[in-house]
Amino acid sequence: MTVVDDIKARLDILEVVGQRVPLQRSGRSYKGNCPFHQERTPSFHVFPERQSWRCFGACATGGDAIGFVMRSENLEFGEAIRELARRTGVQLQERRESRVDPTAYEINEAARAYFQRHLASTQGADARAYMEGRGLDRAAADAFQIGLAPSDGESLRSHLIREGFSAAQLVAAGVVREGDDGRQRDLFRGRLMIPIRDSEGRLAGFGGRSLDDSEPKYLNSPQGEVFDKSRILYAMDRARDDIRKNGAVIVEGYMDAIAAHQAGFRNVVASMGTALTGPQVDAIRRMTSEVTMALDQDAAGQQATLRSLESSWQIFQSGVARQSRGTTVFQRRDNPEIKVAAMPPGQDPDEVIRRSPTEWSRLVDNARPLLEFVISAMTVGIDPDRPEGKDGVIRTVYPLIAAEQDGPRQDYYLQMLAQKLNVTRDFLISNYSRPTVAQRQRTGQTKQQPEQQTAETSPFAKLEHDPVEEYCLTLLMRYPDLSEYAETLTAEHFWRHENREIFTGYLSCGEEVAEDAPDNAPPGVQEQLEALRRKSLHPMDFIKRRRAMADVITQLEKRSLRRLKTEEQIRFSESPPDLDTEDLQDTVAVNQRMKEAENRSRNRP
Ligand code: UTP
Ligand code: MN
Repeated sequence: MTVVDDIKARLDILEVVGQRVPLQRSGRSYKGNCPFHQERTPSFHVFPERQSWRCFGACATGGDAIGFVMRSENLEFGEAIRELARRTGVQLQERRESRVDPTAYEINEAARAYFQRHLASTQGADARAYMEGRGLDRAAADAFQIGLAPSDGESLRSHLIREGFSAAQLVAAGVVREGDDGRQRDLFRGRLMIPIRDSEGRLAGFGGRSLDDSEPKYLNSPQGEVFDKSRILYAMDRARDDIRKNGAVIVEGYMDAIAAHQAGFRNVVASMGTALTGPQVDAIRRMTSEVTMALDQDAAGQQATLRSLESSWQIFQSGVARQSRGTTVFQRRDNPEIKVAAMPPGQDPDEVIRRSPTEWSRLVDNARPLLEFVISAMTVGIDPDRPEGKDGVIRTVYPLIAAEQDGPRQDYYLQMLAQKLNVTRDFLISNYSRPTVAQRQRTGQTKQQPEQQTAETSPFAKLEHDPVEEYCLTLLMRYPDLSEYAETLTAEHFWRHENREIFTGYLSCGEEVAEDAPDNAPPGVQEQLEALRRKSLHPMDFIKRRRAMADVITQLEKRSLRRLKTEEQIRFSESPPDLDTEDLQDTVAVNQRMKEAENRSRNRP
């Protein structure tokens, strides 16, 4: 359950409204004078069984308890949620910024200086030999501020305490760990220390490489607000200018990035061994439209590699969709394309670069479009003359093709897949266009998400869903040319508040509503935006998507009117409309609106 649903579940509409509006029972509903406009005959109703309210008079509007609080107390959605969370005792996630403790950066800097001195000291001889053995030169080590953690487990702590930090601060910053016995020890012991800066150049944490065979190979600073692996790309602070000039190359490892910079390839950043995330891709996309991922080609990592490529692709494409708005025909550059440079089997970029910088350049220059790479890799073992295995391949690859934003490229990939599998392009489109349940589950918002984190922190947070509303929003966000359709919709067509908020945001800033999904977006909204961005749509040409949009709008309209009708029926269930009063006028007005809506949807192209 999302926080929003949790809050709703704890609110009783009668109580919420009753505090502001004197209500009288009237059959299955309660009525009173509408608090939002002046009136003498009550046209404002509350429906306990539906947990909703509606003004059948001048306002002609309605909603749930949250909507009532927003309107009557004049609050933004986020403010209302915070206020209601307080009243109902629902725990909200802290704001991102509020937990960042600036001393954490200071502590990291102090630790970094200490590690560097330790590496330069006599005790650093073995580590220096290790670096030399790996071809890491002195200048690069200095530039990247590499150091060495003492192995005794207490030197760093004592040193930092002498520098004036408190033990609690050191623990909070992550450089000191408190054991179960309550004893505090340095987190990093006897490791080669690689400082990791965030995009603003602040020292967010460390990756510590073991110098013997001890596990893990790299021990990283604990994940938290300061060191957030999902937002940081290693070496971005040094690569920025070159990325603007030459495009970005993304490698996996710290050592790969360092080796690249040492050899003069300064546009290289490292993803630190995980699949690319939305914030990482966004950061790169703001600087360049040329992105190449350098991949190890370990046979063992094949499946995992493909999965990670798949997710990078979805994220990248949703970024492309968002950025194509706001440019005129003349400004519009070619759509960016993400490419893959596969390393020779058994070698990672570090080794390739050390062996032959020319080969590295050649590999990067000859990188292939990601989808081409995936289609080739997936179809390698498939016999085009036999049906076996094809369905699985199509189910994996088709959603990726569907996500491609560039029409001609999409068609190219479709043909490529069709040709490799010896099926027709039309067969693919007609049989695989609708996302299957399995695909929907894979794209995010599922209940079976295995590594489910807490509902508030995970981008895959379990959400209650409304597929129709989501489909509408996804279409709007994905296809800028559908924006005119949004004009026939109002926020009230969306019943779920997250969706309502996103739609309102869309009205004010277009599909870029998802672009800067602000960290301080109201609870539930951020997660929902992430989920929508990850949704896959089947390929749709201009005509098709306009038709889809018109259909989904009709559905939303009908649903919204059905709600209205049901409430109206409840309203009159025990006291039929009085022929002489405003009641009748209201009913006529509702019927009129319904008729108009029906006509509107019928007259649409
Ligand atoms: P690799 O296992 O490919 O290591 O992990 P590497 O970068 O080539 O390191 P060397 O050359 O053996 O020293 C790629 C990246 O995944 C993350 C690190 O960011 C690493 O650079 N990783 C890997 C960890 O965080 N922890 C680990 O235990 C292993
Ligand atoms: Mn390596």
